[in-house]
Parts: sequence; C-alpha cells; structure tokens
Amino acid sequence: MVGDIGLEKMPLLAALASHAGEGYISFHTPGHKQGAGAFPEWYKLLGDMVFQLDLTELPGLDNLQDPQGVIAEAQARAASYFGAAETFFLINGTTAGILAVMLAVSGPGKKVVLPRVSHQSVINGLILSGAKPVYLPVEYSPDLGLPGQVATCRLEKVLTGEDNGEKPLLVLLHPNYYGLAGDLGQQVKTAQREGCVVLVDEAHGAHFITSELFPVTALRAGADFAAQGAHKVLGAFTQAAFLHCREKGGQRIRAALRMVQSSSPSYLLMASLDVARCQCEQEEEQWEAVAHLGHRLRLQISRIPGLLAPGSELLEVPGVCEYDPSRLIVNVRGLGITGFEAADWLYRQKKILVEMADLDNIVLILSPASLEKADLLMDGFSSLSAACSTSSGKSCSFPDFRGLPLPQQLLTPREAFFADSSLVPLDSALGKIAAEVISPYPPGVPVLCPGERIDGELLEFLHDWERAGGSWPGRKKGLIKIVAGS
Ligand SMILES: Cc1ncc(COP(=O)(O)O)c(C=O)c1O
Repeated sequence: MVGDIGLEKMPLLAALASHAGEGYISFHTPGHKQGAGAFPEWYKLLGDMVFQLDLTELPGLDNLQDPQGVIAEAQARAASYFGAAETFFLINGTTAGILAVMLAVSGPGKKVVLPRVSHQSVINGLILSGAKPVYLPVEYSPDLGLPGQVATCRLEKVLTGEDNGEKPLLVLLHPNYYGLAGDLGQQVKTAQREGCVVLVDEAHGAHFITSELFPVTALRAGADFAAQGAHKVLGAFTQAAFLHCREKGGQRIRAALRMVQSSSPSYLLMASLDVARCQCEQEEEQWEAVAHLGHRLRLQISRIPGLLAPGSELLEVPGVCEYDPSRLIVNVRGLGITGFEAADWLYRQKKILVEMADLDNIVLILSPASLEKADLLMDGFSSLSAACSTSSGKSCSFPDFRGLPLPQQLLTPREAFFADSSLVPLDSALGKIAAEVISPYPPGVPVLCPGERIDGELLEFLHDWERAGGSWPGRKKGLIKIVAGS
C-alpha cells in the first residue's frame, strides 16, 4: 500500500498509515479510540480513516515537542524543499510562528519595527512580548482602494535613526492580503546591514516557492524567519502552518513554540503539512498554470463592463514591486456597488464564495483546483455586471478608514492591555488611552492599538462604521475599552 501512493515521500503520513494497519488496541488518548468509541453519526460522516489517523505520541510516531523520528524527518524534508536550515510544523496557525519568534527574539521594552497594516497576530505578539512598536505607515492607492507596502526609504530612515545602538526586530508582511509585495530583498538587506533580525509574515505566500512567476520567497530574499500559512493556499488542513528558519532555530525558538502551541498537537494537522509539502513539490507545473490563469482572467474580467481586475496597475500602488498572480482582485467600483455587495450577490446568485471583500474590491484565491472553474467564474462576473446595469446599484454607505492618521502612542501595548480598564461609550472616549485593538474587518487592519490615544477623527470613523453595519472582532456595541483613569 505504501509504495502504491508514494507514502514513502511523506514520512509522517507513512508512519500513521502503517500504525493504523497494525490493529493495535487503544488504551490511550484520544477518547474516540480510533473510531471504536466515536459517536456513530459523526463516525459515518467523517469516515474510518480520520479516526484511525487521529493519533497521539505513540511508539514510532515521534513527539512534536522534541522531534527525533518521523516528525523530525518530515520537518527536514519541508526545510529542504522551502530552502530553510530548519522548519517547524505549526498546529496553531501562522499565528504560532509569529508569536514564537517575537517572544524569542524580542522582549519587554525592546523595539519591534512593523507595518501598521500588520495582522492582529503581530499586534498580539507585542502584547505578549512587551515590546515597543515602531509602526511604519503604508499608503493606499486612491484609484484602486488597495493598501500598498512599506516604502524602503521610510524603513531605512527608521532603522538608521536608532540612536542607542538597539537592534530592533523587523516584522515584514509579504505579501499583504491582496497579494501585493514590496521590495523585500532590499528591505531585508538594509535591516540586516543594521544588525536587525527579520521575521516575515508570509501567511499568504507558501506557494511562492513553486515558480519564478510568483514573488520571491521570504527565505530567498534573505529573511531570518518566515511564517507561512500552509492551510491558506496549499492543501494543508486549517490551522496547519510552517515556521522556516534561515539558520537552526535555537533553544529560545523551541521554548517559545512550546509556549504558544498545544502539548497535544493534532497528528492530522501535522500529517497534512507533510502532504502539503509533497503535493506542492509535485504540482509546480500546475502552479505555473495557475499564474497564467490569473493573468488571463485579469484580462477577461477587465473587458466586462464595470469591472477591473488590475494586473500591471498593481505596480503603481505605493511601495509595491511584485504581485501574486494567483490572488485575483476585482474592483467593482464601476458597477456602482461595494465589494461587500458584489460578494453577497455572487454568493446568493451563483454560489461563488470569495475570500474577502472590501469597499471597492473582492479578492479571490486561485489554486490548481481552480483551473477547471474559470468558466464558472467568468459566468459569475458577466452576470453580476449585467444585473448591476439593470438595477441602480446601492450607493456606498461604508466610511473609509484609509486616511486616518497614526494615533499617538502613550503606553506599550502590553502596559495598556494589563492596566486596569473600563468600558466607556464611544462619546466619552476622546483623549483616553485605548486598552484594546480595533481592527475593522475586512480587511482587519488595526485603526487603534492598546496604548494609543483616542482622537476625534477615529471616534467619528468608529461611529460611522457601526452605523453602516460594520464591525470588528471583540466589538461591544457603542463601547470602547480604555485604560482606567486615563
Ligand atoms: C497576513 C496574515 N498574517 C497572519 C495570519 C494568521 O494566520 P493563521 O490564521 O494561520 O494563524 C493571517 C490570517 O489571516 C494573515 O492574513
């Protein structure tokens, strides 16, 4: 059986499959006892193998906390393919990799330089580590409504302006949620010349390794660490991710990973990483075809009245040097509707579910599985355009956060998070210090971080955003958490 489907290329999966074939009698965790104790309807729905392979640290199956056997072998294969000295399997998402590096490399009072548009996991890393953020603003393209990337000259100014000899950790985002990448090679080089360690949040770029048609990988650009969401674009199960290290990870990284990951990691998730790496290696040609499909769809969609799927135009977005052709952005401004409305229409009328929508755009993720679906997608877009030309289209009612200034920072995120806090109505929060992150979703970019002063422009935006039906994770209607007595 093993030889038949090439399991020898996936050492962890092979060990699980071999264990399942031995007929062991389970007196260990998990409680479903490989299906024998599973709820029957659940068992029927999922199938026997899911339970057979949902195993734990048993003889021959290694241990993620101190891998010496098949997990070590599977991680080494991933490291070799992605070009790392060492790769760690993550079962708590890209988040776990980001948090672990921030805890291992940074610490209380140390500086972390990061784009303001960083994902909430990076902001949470500031709270956990106690580091002091230095935010790099990112400009938006007014024409396309898209966030750009950090300008290299701005980064250089911040890094060379550090006067006390402190070497901050630099956390870059490559690519952003829209697939847009900055001048990563130059920025990493600049940071390392200044003695900084560079972590790249590559949550959306695990497939870049497959072809030169995609942006450069973070490791090829010289990054010290790259955290990749193998579940986002590759075929790994949700929550499965990689942390790649340019040099051997070291004891602090291992200790930090033990802190932010479960001590009972799912073998299904870990095996899915072994499989995702192997599949990626085998499907490089299909990924090239996806890149070509992305370019073709951009041209075809842009011919439909009211739609624009930007390609080379993306290189005009501030700070952007490269883009991921498999991340399809469709600007619907010309239809007189919002991206939210377009996404809702495609879902209800065509059963097409997109990855994300914002005021102006919808964003779709293409993969080898999309190669056969291009016609359905084109039909969806043509029908959307026709439907909008016969109805007046709702006017855009969502307020825009893109011009909001960076708030003044009075406390570190950690100081503010752990301070006594109180919930106050938005109307009473002017001038107070925030004790929570506010990241209106989508796209989930923070407009306020713990420790920042709440100003009038921000409050006006939050009022308008709520009135328009918008939300943010953790929102308590009409209220905001502030540092007590601030
Ligand atoms: C840019 C970015 N970084 C990090 C993360 C966190 O990844 P995960 O959900 O795998 O923990 C996400 C998730 O959406 C993301 O978009």
